Amino acid sequence: MDLRQVAVIVVAAGRGTRAGGGLPKQWRDLAGRPVLAHTLQALQGIGRQILVVHPDDMARALDLAQGTAVLVAGGDTRADSVRNALESLDGSGVTRVLIHDGARPFVGRALALRILGALDAHQGAAPALAVTDALWLGEGGRVTGTRPRDGLYRAQTPQGFRFPEILAAHRAHPGGAADDVEVALAAGLDVAIVEGEEGNIKLTWPGDFAQAEDRLAEARLKGAAMDVRLGNGYDVHAFTAGDHVTLCGVRVPHDRALLGHSDADVAMHALTDAIYGALAEGDIGRHFPPSDPQWKGAASEIFLAHAAERLRARGYRLANADVTIVCERPKIGPHAAAMQAALARILGVEPGRVSVKATTSERLGFTGREEGIAALATAALVAA
Ligand code: CTP
Ligand code: MG
Repeated sequence: MDLRQVAVIVVAAGRGTRAGGGLPKQWRDLAGRPVLAHTLQALQGIGRQILVVHPDDMARALDLAQGTAVLVAGGDTRADSVRNALESLDGSGVTRVLIHDGARPFVGRALALRILGALDAHQGAAPALAVTDALWLGEGGRVTGTRPRDGLYRAQTPQGFRFPEILAAHRAHPGGAADDVEVALAAGLDVAIVEGEEGNIKLTWPGDFAQAEDRLAEARLKGAAMDVRLGNGYDVHAFTAGDHVTLCGVRVPHDRALLGHSDADVAMHALTDAIYGALAEGDIGRHFPPSDPQWKGAASEIFLAHAAERLRARGYRLANADVTIVCERPKIGPHAAAMQAALARILGVEPGRVSVKATTSERLGFTGREEGIAALATAALVAA
């Protein structure tokens, strides 16, 4: 199916009187954006979008639709609004339409595509859920009778139709239909039932908004849990004459020192770079140019604290970090706990999130010959 021949009509010209709250419901905020922004986004890329709005809402709608949807003025009833949109598409080459309530922001893209697919075999197709609750008749707060629920469905949108058929059906309909399936049936069209989605609710009552906010907050949390960033860092410093080295912020007595512009804390540099790497923000050299004399002999703590500040500013927290120091000497084991504590303090996390370990390189290579020390680090960031 060629999606260029598909139009998605989103009807949003109602006044939302049942929902209260001042603004028509489809223009109210949901998680910081109008309900309609969610609806249009959910249906993006499925076909050309036609947004039907009340003439009073044109200015807002222009702002929202900018380049994504074509605006059409709605009518007094939902059916009038749909018909205006269908008429605007006459002669446009559109062969299939989905007609969707703007007040259903949780519509799934997969559902919309299933409806379109069903139009291969049917003139119309629409989502619905079988009624599972018992049905009563009531009056004055009392049950006055019951009704069988067999064969009853709760209708949803988007409702899909072959275009010429639904346009003709709307032109022929006397008005007053609750939805487009009713219009289609009146014209004798065959409409398939596609399994709807429990979450595809139509915001109708004030309480629906609180529920919708909760759902979006939950979805945000899930999304955040999946937003994991990893970074790696690697650094080498050569030995020079001296009596101690500084590793992970801890002064370790040794018969040599490490050569470097700052305090040459090779392990802390690797970790700092791992964090910058996870943020895709370059490396230490970019934030603290070695050409700048103010960093000469600087405690590397400044660099790591800066990286920690950056990760917080970007909305992340450090899930864990792992540092490996590669050297024959000095022995790291006796100092590992102090190093872990020092890094955790600078990073502002509990020590259990930081690991410091070491390995020799079996006397091989530059570390094996004790020409210098290498360090590797990994950092994992998660959305705060
Ligand atoms: N709709 C429309 N034009 C109308 C009436 C309704 O485009 N003249 C749209 C609504 O904006 C909504 C959808 O049709 O997206 C379903 O209608 P409903 O949920 O009944 O919305 P409202 O009529 O706006 O709300 P209420 O009945 O509570 O006033
Ligand atoms: Mg209504």
